[in-house]
Amino acid sequence: MEHQFWNDLWEKEEIGFHMKTVNTFLTKYYKALALPKNSRIFIPLCGKTLDIGWLLSNGHKVVGVELSEIAIEQLFLELGITPKISILDEFKLYSAKDLDIFVGDIFNLTKKLIGPVYTVFDRGGLVALLQNSRLQYAKHIIHITKSAPQLLITFQYDMTQMEGPPFSISQKEIETHYKHTYTPFLLETTNVEGPFNPLAKVKEKVWHLQRFNHNE
Ligand SMILES: C[S@@+](CC[C@H](N)C(=O)[O-])C[C@H]1O[C@@H](n2cnc3c(N)ncnc32)[C@H](O)[C@@H]1O
Repeated sequence: MEHQFWNDLWEKEEIGFHMKTVNTFLTKYYKALALPKNSRIFIPLCGKTLDIGWLLSNGHKVVGVELSEIAIEQLFLELGITPKISILDEFKLYSAKDLDIFVGDIFNLTKKLIGPVYTVFDRGGLVALLQNSRLQYAKHIIHITKSAPQLLITFQYDMTQMEGPPFSISQKEIETHYKHTYTPFLLETTNVEGPFNPLAKVKEKVWHLQRFNHNE
C-alpha cells in the first residue's frame, strides 16, 4: 500500500488493526520459541503494538520499524518511556533502554542499521502489503536479520468476499517466500469471528519459520 494510505489511517485514528491486548499467539507460543533472556526481537511494521511492552517486560530487547511517527510517539507515551530521538540515514530513530524503533520505510533498513536480531515476530506486517511487494519484503527481512527465525501470523480467506488489508496469503505463497531458507511449520489455524465479513470465512494462521540448520 502507499505510504500515504497508512499515514492517513494513523492521522484519522482508523487503526482497527491495533489490538487492545497482547497478541494471544505470542503469549501462547512464547515458551516454545525458547528465547534467551536479553535476546533482541525484531517487529517489522510494528505500529504501537502492546507486544513491544510485553516483550520488554519479559526481559527482551526490541527493535521495530514503522512508517508513522504518530504511532511511535503514541507507543512511547503509552509505555511511559521518554525516547532519545536521532536521525540515522533515512530514519528517525526513537530509542530507549532495550528499545530501538526506526521511523521510516522498512525497505530502507539495512543489516548494519538494525543490528543483531534473534527472532522476528511478524503480526500485521506481511499481511499489510500488496502481493507485488510481499516477495521483496520477505527477502528483505531474511537478508537484514541474517535469516533469523520468525513467528509469522497470516490470514487466509475468500478474496471475492473481502478486500485487504489484511490480505489473504495462501500456503503456496508462504512456501514461495520462505521455503528456500526455512522450514515453514504451521502451528495453528483458527477461524476468526469478526470484525471481518463472515462470508469471507477468515482464518488466521500461525507459522514458525525455522532455519534449516538451526541446530548447527
Ligand atoms: C496492519 S498494521 C500492523 C501494526 C502492528 N504490527 C500491529 O500488530 O498492531 C501495519 C503497519 O505497518 C506500517 N507500515 C506500512 N508500510 C510500511 C513500510 N513500508 N515501512 C514501515 N512501516 C510500514 C503501517 O503504518 C502500519 O502501522
